[in-house]
Amino acid sequence: MKIAIDGPAGAGKSTVAQQIASELNFVYIDTGAMYRALAWATLQQGVPVDNQQEVSALLTSARIELRREEDGQHVYWNDQDITSLIRTQEVSNHASIVASYGDVRAQMLVLQRMMAESGNVVMDGRDIGTHVLPNADVKIFLTASVDERAQRRYAELIGKGNEADLEQLKQEIAERDKRDSEREVAPLRQADDAVLVDTTGLSIDQVVDKILTICKQAGEGSGIV
Ligand code: DC
Repeated sequence: MKIAIDGPAGAGKSTVAQQIASELNFVYIDTGAMYRALAWATLQQGVPVDNQQEVSALLTSARIELRREEDGQHVYWNDQDITSLIRTQEVSNHASIVASYGDVRAQMLVLQRMMAESGNVVMDGRDIGTHVLPNADVKIFLTASVDERAQRRYAELIGKGNEADLEQLKQEIAERDKRDSEREVAPLRQADDAVLVDTTGLSIDQVVDKILTICKQAGEGSGIV
């Protein structure tokens, strides 16, 4: 069974997707982390982010892995654990740029489909329901207002001991939404057969319950969920 969860930055996709995966005992695949890994590597290796060819070549030459470990999913770039390094604002902004490159997306698509072959998966991203897993059994499009998403990111950053500026976060989220939705290749878009879940004002548990109900309806009789 394949569950696709798409939506804009800060809608709560990864928290919700992880909980759904652990509830159903499915494998969780965070595709945003893969774009973040590439963005981190461009910064680390001084590859100019506006040079599509070099960025794409960097991805070709590397190995990105998502490994399930005791405390959750870890992201590896050529065997280096970069899980905690890819959540900075700088990496977020670069990730949105590298994700707009057709060559990069084509490579990611192959990797992500291979990962999804492993069996029952919950995959989150921007183009899972529309491109990566067009035949997913359940497609969810998770969203929330820009204000609420900025507030959540702010709380998350402060909670982790980072500095944050709410107004700047709002602006950056709006910019990323625009770039993700307007890019030519696989833009952020709700699949025609996806269920829209607006999480504004809802708790994580409420959202998880809602989606689990949808998954159970879709998997009824399959013995999987
Ligand atoms: O979900 P996130 O913030 O970790 O994603 C980082 C960036 O990667 C974001 O700008 C959108 C992009 N992305 C994408 O284009 N397609 C995906 N399937 C996942 C993420």
